[in-house]
Amino acid sequence: MSRSFTLAVASDHAAIPERFALIEHLRGEGHEVIDFGCKEGESVDYPDQAALVGNAVVEGKAERGVLICGTGLGICMAANKVDGIRAATVHDAFTAEMCRRHNDANVVCMGARVHAAVAIQRMVDVFLASPFDEGRHTGRVAKIMALESHDPVTS
Ligand code: RB5
Repeated sequence: MSRSFTLAVASDHAAIPERFALIEHLRGEGHEVIDFGCKEGESVDYPDQAALVGNAVVEGKAERGVLICGTGLGICMAANKVDGIRAATVHDAFTAEMCRRHNDANVVCMGARVHAAVAIQRMVDVFLASPFDEGRHTGRVAKIMALESHDPVTS
């Protein structure tokens, strides 16, 4: 069990029931959830959903973000275009933990056509409970972020 977070959560049309189940689960655990949709019956473009969550995180409205599309791939690619976002598509508890420990991910992405709703909830729980390990990983994450400014760290 992690401390309570304020979370920005969104999905596209491929993951609506899974997002609803996840939000209920997260609120049950005491987290505050800002739900950016989409609504039932709606068809949306996953980059728009990624931008809503990514912007909420970089603007400080949410501490972390959760994105679900069909595969977890497109929505992650889009989220990583938002400056300040380190989004990771995770597949299991190991990748959910390691994206925090080594990469300091602030957004987690998953595919509802890949994973069952309960598996998604477990991966998000691990993501929220896992710390950044800092140490040798700090400089590597700084190099990721330097790519945004087109000013790569060379040493
Ligand atoms: C929508 O059909 C699908 O393309 C989307 O959910 C996602 O899987 C894209 O990466």
